[in-house]
Amino acid sequence: MTQTASRPGTGALKPLPLDVEAIRADFPILSRTVRDGKKLVYLDSGATSQKPRSVLDAEREFYERYNAAPHRGAHALAEEATGHYEAARATIGAFIGAPEREIVFTRNSTESINLVAYALSNAATAKDPAFREYAVGQGDEIVVSEMEHHANLVPWQQLCERTGATLRWLGLTDDGRLDLSDLATVVNERTKLVAITQQSNILGTINPLGEIIARAREVGALVLVDGAQSVPHQPVDVTELGADFLVFSGHKMLGPTGIGVLWGRYEVLDKLPPFMTGGSMIEVVRMEGSTFAAPPQRFEAGVPMTAQAIGLAAAVEYLQALGMDRVEEHEKLLTGYALEKLAEIPGVTVIGPQDTVARGGAISFTVEGIHPHDVGQVLDDHGIAVRVGHHCAWPVVRRYGVPATTRATFYVHTGYDDIDALADGIRAAQKFFGTV
Ligand code: ALA
Repeated sequence: MTQTASRPGTGALKPLPLDVEAIRADFPILSRTVRDGKKLVYLDSGATSQKPRSVLDAEREFYERYNAAPHRGAHALAEEATGHYEAARATIGAFIGAPEREIVFTRNSTESINLVAYALSNAATAKDPAFREYAVGQGDEIVVSEMEHHANLVPWQQLCERTGATLRWLGLTDDGRLDLSDLATVVNERTKLVAITQQSNILGTINPLGEIIARAREVGALVLVDGAQSVPHQPVDVTELGADFLVFSGHKMLGPTGIGVLWGRYEVLDKLPPFMTGGSMIEVVRMEGSTFAAPPQRFEAGVPMTAQAIGLAAAVEYLQALGMDRVEEHEKLLTGYALEKLAEIPGVTVIGPQDTVARGGAISFTVEGIHPHDVGQVLDDHGIAVRVGHHCAWPVVRRYGVPATTRATFYVHTGYDDIDALADGIRAAQKFFGTV
């Protein structure tokens, strides 16, 4: 059944494009109750998403039927495991418009970013001159933005510490957008790499990547896009994106934990030295030294996260069956409704864009007179799961002068009823703390 909701004075809201009730039935965890029998209202998909049965089944099937280490061994199970692992790579690549050889499996977006950061500093000391092209050193600059998740900030700070390069950043406007007024000076001939989020995990802002990537291209800089909060929620195609790297995490897009993706343009990946070394990433090994396999194997040392990759492929198939255009539209309607509902509550301030233009579904807010952690506590008492804190984006809360925020995030099983529950929960918190 499609959900509609009534809007005081303006009639019925648009029906949601996704059948929320049918989707909820696919997620076993959504049928459980919390806190003395309360219905679970899960508004924390931005932190980690819940998993549909098909993903759980795919992982179980791997362990029950063909558990083996891929790319090692010639027995039947090893062959089957390799086949399924590589098929997962193809499925996940196709989801973002990339060939298999450009998909590197990692643990998560954080590891994908660290992989690139360490490859760039390893390039500076690589013995093989073929690996030195992208070396970062003194005099070079790395550009990020003030809205980055710590995962797309700290690895670059550390790269700069290791190499003597300088970190620069694009600031934020008062309404939660990137301030691009100094783009031409911040991204300049010294810039080696621009690392930027497509969708902010705390503000919900969707960034104008086209403009930033065009500037990076003008000065010959590489571009890494943090897609942890975009790939799960909107169609993303690397052929249209025009970047060099895209990272995302399986667990935020209905897949298992412990699996992430680094997409890299092949010509660039091919010139990068490895981050981690060990089994299965080599070409020839002698006691005197080793040479390395071509990408993506060069970046996948050790027995890989096989069940997790297969589970992520099942998650991708689930999302593809829903249609990413419809997922995006679904969340846009929910975001518009939530912004309206929150605006009706006196004392609630949304930190980030106030409308749905170039905005995703992460809604951070403060409630006057109540600490965000206390808001989260009362919501939890009502069975509503949200995230509270600085959301691993400490510079953002500092920029907007708040100690923390309460954040609601949506996904394919979220309905208008969940947002009504959130609004009721916030009013309950205000009543409890006597601020109204
Ligand atoms: N990066 C995740 C979040 O934004 C954990 O909540």
